[in-house]
Amino acid sequence: MFSEKLLEKFQENPVVVVLTGAGISAESGVPTFRGEDGLWKKFKPEELANFDAFIRNPEIVWEWYRYRQEIVRNIEPNPGHYALAELERMFPDFYLITQNVDGLHFRAGSQNPIELHGNIMRNRCLQCNKYFMEVDLQKEPVIPKCTECGGILRPDVVWFGEQLPQQALINAEKAINEANIFFSVGTSALVQPAASMPFWAKSSGAYLVEINIMETLLTPYVDEYLSGKSGEILPELIKQIKKT
Ligand code: APR
Repeated sequence: MFSEKLLEKFQENPVVVVLTGAGISAESGVPTFRGEDGLWKKFKPEELANFDAFIRNPEIVWEWYRYRQEIVRNIEPNPGHYALAELERMFPDFYLITQNVDGLHFRAGSQNPIELHGNIMRNRCLQCNKYFMEVDLQKEPVIPKCTECGGILRPDVVWFGEQLPQQALINAEKAINEANIFFSVGTSALVQPAASMPFWAKSSGAYLVEINIMETLLTPYVDEYLSGKSGEILPELIKQIKKT
């Protein structure tokens, strides 16, 4: 399944960088965005995942996020998440960049996931910027209010058209420039700036590997395409690395 070339690269004390998307959480039961049962098949991103939609109709947007928070509250990391936490323990120079907002990497033991798009279980007040974890939110009313100033809360996620958290971007760029091996795992490679990261890594000299159940726009450019479920491929990769 894995080339000799890839397994040898792991013997050279490499800087390993992994970018993940919704696909790595699919086996935990978190719907992806653009797959067959994807969230964008049922809902329109422009009606939900952007600030104007939120200001126009905070109730609908909050109903959607409470639905997604409920899903995340009741699921567990899968073998793919745990394998990446194991990879981090095996290689001192390891960076995990994720587009996911479900917090599953952290729950699987990844020490410092770079969350490009925020975290759905964290919320912040529009008025005073105070943060609240999902567990602290009152169940009613649908639109939670700040206990400090009474302002409206919003999920602490990056909506379409919004800036990504600066520090996350800086940390991601630093990792990408140093990468010797770069994995793109479970992402359709469509949404910027994450979609450009594999290309940056390759132009910095990284060996580019994609893990996905189907080909993406990125596939023609990778050095190695591993077709299959991340929850199966990543644990197998750990086994093969330990063998060599
Ligand atoms: N293993 C590996 N890959 C999988 C699996 C799996 N078990 N299941 C699905 N996939 C792949 C799909 O083939 C698809 O390429 O995961 C990818 C999921 O793509 P998207 O649903 O587009 O999710 P993502 O790439 O993370 O979206 C990027 O778009 O809507 C925004 O902010 C949102 O972070 C999200 C961003």
